[in-house]
Amino acid sequence: MTDKYAVIGNPIAHSKSPQIHMMFAEQTGQGISYETILAPLDGFTATVERLRSDGYKGCSVTVPFKFEAFELATELSVRARSAQAVNTLTFKDDSINGDNTDGAGLVRDIEQNLGISLKGKRVLLVGAGGAAFGVAQPLFKAGSRLSVTNRTIEKAQRMVESFDEEHVISIFEYSSLKNESFDVVINATSTGLSNEMPPLPSTIFAPGALAYDMMYGRKTPFMKFAREQGAQVADGLGMLVEQAAEAFNIWRGVRPDTAPVISKFRSS
Ligand code: ATR
Repeated sequence: MTDKYAVIGNPIAHSKSPQIHMMFAEQTGQGISYETILAPLDGFTATVERLRSDGYKGCSVTVPFKFEAFELATELSVRARSAQAVNTLTFKDDSINGDNTDGAGLVRDIEQNLGISLKGKRVLLVGAGGAAFGVAQPLFKAGSRLSVTNRTIEKAQRMVESFDEEHVISIFEYSSLKNESFDVVINATSTGLSNEMPPLPSTIFAPGALAYDMMYGRKTPFMKFAREQGAQVADGLGMLVEQAAEAFNIWRGVRPDTAPVISKFRSS
């Protein structure tokens, strides 16, 4: 019997998750199937129920359903609770377990793949939407000195207030960043989609800084800007593969080797 998994989203056609998980399965000798499922915008819960009754073992959840998955899960991991969003569901006989592997994936990509320890580093998280929420606490827990900026400052405040570590996370308006510089600047805004970038000053990157865009598959204006300022630049492909590896580990109890998967996508 092949254990069945899927990724649910809308849109979903261009998801790399099936290829990633099938490469993990091949590498670790796990007999699984993994497909994309397009759920109607008002049909996430019904889609999950159908998968459960069809015997699926779990699913990944992507935009725009991560909050609904959080609401639907009957058991939540600590990191899902702090992200207030779920990207990995595991179906048990009488429970739906929700976890969030996005933050762990980002931290692992930065620390293991890019070789940059976050401990003690000045990190600026740009954005306060769903993508930022999912990674803020894991960045902090990795020992960084975390600051947050967002166009709508109230959203950054609300995000930080919901964390246990509220008192040690600094919040900046874009306009007050002129005299600040950071070792790691993470773009968690959706600006890349519209070929824009957040209004960051060119002095934002400390010497040798890492500029990380959580978006993948395109060169964003943020990445171009960061390169022009001499920063080391990374896109979100490594994070995508790492968060999938973390989900695979939850489901199968084996941690796949991500390096060959990342390099396969980089070269294709
Ligand atoms: P996601 O789930 O991708 O985070 P989201 O919740 O809609 O999507 O959040 C989008 C993020 O990109 C927010 O931080 C948003 O800033 P606001 O909270 O001020 O809306 C940010 N964003 C989108 N377009 C932007 C722009 N043109 N300039 C600056 N920030 C932008």
